[in-house]
Amino acid sequence: MSDASAEAWRALESLREHGAGLELSGLFEADPTRGETWVAEGAGWTLDYAKNRIDARGRDALLALARACGVAAHARAMFAGEPINHTEGRAVLHTALRAPRDTDLALEGQRVGEDVHAVLDRFTAFADEVRGGEVKGFSGKRFRNVVNLGIGGSDLGPRMVVEALRGQPSEALDVRFVANVDPNDFALVTRDLDPAETLCIVCSKTFTTLETLANARAARRWIVDALGDEAAVADHFAAVSTNLTAVAEFGIDTDRTFGFWDWVGGRYSLWSSVGLSIALAVGGDAFRSLLAGARAMDEHFRDAPLETNLPVLLALIGVWYRNVLGWESTAVLPYDQRLARLPEFLQQLDMESNGKRVDHDGRPVSQATGPIVWGQAGTNGQHAFFQLLHQGEALVACDFLGFLESGHPQGDQHTQLLANLFAQTEALAFGKSAAEVEAEGTAPGLVPHRTFPGNRPSNLLVAPALTPHSLGALLALYEHKVFVQGVLWRINSFDQWGVELGKQLARRIAEELTGAGAPQHDSSTNAWIERFRRHRQKS
Ligand code: F6P
Repeated sequence: MSDASAEAWRALESLREHGAGLELSGLFEADPTRGETWVAEGAGWTLDYAKNRIDARGRDALLALARACGVAAHARAMFAGEPINHTEGRAVLHTALRAPRDTDLALEGQRVGEDVHAVLDRFTAFADEVRGGEVKGFSGKRFRNVVNLGIGGSDLGPRMVVEALRGQPSEALDVRFVANVDPNDFALVTRDLDPAETLCIVCSKTFTTLETLANARAARRWIVDALGDEAAVADHFAAVSTNLTAVAEFGIDTDRTFGFWDWVGGRYSLWSSVGLSIALAVGGDAFRSLLAGARAMDEHFRDAPLETNLPVLLALIGVWYRNVLGWESTAVLPYDQRLARLPEFLQQLDMESNGKRVDHDGRPVSQATGPIVWGQAGTNGQHAFFQLLHQGEALVACDFLGFLESGHPQGDQHTQLLANLFAQTEALAFGKSAAEVEAEGTAPGLVPHRTFPGNRPSNLLVAPALTPHSLGALLALYEHKVFVQGVLWRINSFDQWGVELGKQLARRIAEELTGAGAPQHDSSTNAWIERFRRHRQKS
């Protein structure tokens, strides 16, 4: 850590007591303009960060930290394709996937913009041909359904975007997702589908992922059994991968195979051909609008001053709660049912990126890193876990999201939705004092139960409407927020070694479950392997 950044961290951490003493009611009383001025805008989104337990002193210390840690220089290095994923020796260039064709960027002598747009043109043209009925199934039937077989980054992003943009007038295909190695997933997702009308996409960056290959084999059996001919595979499968050799070995035609590059991380890949399922669901033009929205946020992140830079502000506010106040969790609460899968997507984006315990040099980190991310669409969450948010002992940093317009207006329902959104942020921030509860005539014994402590912070992110463009910008906003936090914590946000050990052990245990030799684990794991074997023998 440089001297300047160590000093900036010390200055920030010296504000712990000060930060713990800040009261939102006091902050709003002291500055009547706070609701108007603690607001920033970028790429069509408005961030209201007024209801955070941060004052000007805290904000200054956070911005000083961002400067001392060289956030802007690190961002430039990412955009320029420097190998910032140093544990894997790779560049991190998901931003190039949404950059213009003539972007001035070359990697190992290859012009990145041209490569990216060549693949983009190919897979969006294919998607539009399937949507238009020009590409048909083996028996000559038009495709009505698409099943994307992938997991993690090859599932969560496309699944979330398809669900978010579903219901557009342009929808022509029923696009579904199978991820889990649990055979129930494939069976339940495909149970009412006609294989003759179904296109399967095997979506895997590495094309070695156990779950995806198992589901791809299940899908192949399903298609071949129903259509009675191995030759049907050529018509009913497409693949998305960086491992073109493995795709060819699986038997998928090269003209149905869409590649991408090792400089696209799995959880940052929905902008690449991994987004084929999105293009199939909403069409090539809408997919390009999604990219354009992300590009608008990339430009905002690259060019806006730190003080008004949405990803930087979100990252710094997160650091305040994580490292100054010591809170462990962040809730993402989209007040739009179409974004119900956003928390799940952000869990991978944030927790796989920043759930790290050693810094760039392999030394234990000196600050707490990535928070636990969770959440649910509002208003549903209000009737489930909001009790804890309002009156629980654990303090949770909350991001609320909403849109001024509804995709499907119905009576006053959208007004009710927004009323609830604004009400929740107000109730959390200002609560209800014991005196107010008493003044309502509440029985004295119930007063503590009905009191709301308040002083519970939130961000509020609002855009006019949920469109491919606004969604693209929102997702890029969170990508860059995670990046900035990784820079401040000095961790590599772009590897994921923590997923490997479980995979290795599962391979060994799978053999032992079906084998006969003595299992070689701890006594608990051994006992479960033996119990499973005995159960199998009986059944
Ligand atoms: O196991 C974690 C992971 O490597 C994720 O990072 C990735 O998104 C997912 O598996 C799927 O990987 P692939 O696209 O290579 O099948």
